[in-house]
Amino acid sequence: MAAPYRLLFVCLGNICRSPAAEGVMRSLIEAKGFTDRVHIRSAGTGGWHAGKLPDQRMRNAAQNRGYELISRARQVTEGDLRDYDLILVMDRQNLRDVRSYDRSSEFGAKIRLFCDFCSVHQESEVPDPYYGGEQGFELVLDLLEDGCRGVLEHISSALA
Ligand code: 4NP
Repeated sequence: MAAPYRLLFVCLGNICRSPAAEGVMRSLIEAKGFTDRVHIRSAGTGGWHAGKLPDQRMRNAAQNRGYELISRARQVTEGDLRDYDLILVMDRQNLRDVRSYDRSSEFGAKIRLFCDFCSVHQESEVPDPYYGGEQGFELVLDLLEDGCRGVLEHISSALA
């Protein structure tokens, strides 16, 4: 069997948006029976929360929609750019930060804004919910559910 497709979600802290993206995407992949075909992880451009579970507010909001978030935060590495097939970042600052690891400008094509894959929502970034209220976490999940469907479609040719 071919090697699994490797998908990495990236935000700033790796405790809100990207672990939630990982949970939403994993749920979609499982529902399609592609669990062994796709390797899904997340990381943060910052390392302050390394080792931590996702933020409790994000975990609660996700759990209300049936997603269990159990990943542990870690910081992006230069090796991730080589190792992953697609790196989806939540906002433009993440894009700049991840690109800064791409010193020989080899990997630009696989580093993409997550919202490029949304079809219902018009936002171009997934807003950081960390300093806001509950609504922010719901918006994150709305955007993630929209975009992850697009991501599934995008990678499905690689899974056939
Ligand atoms: P995330 O949210 O990037 O979606 O994980 C944040 C989490 C923590 C912080 C900022 C954003 N922080 O400043 O600690």
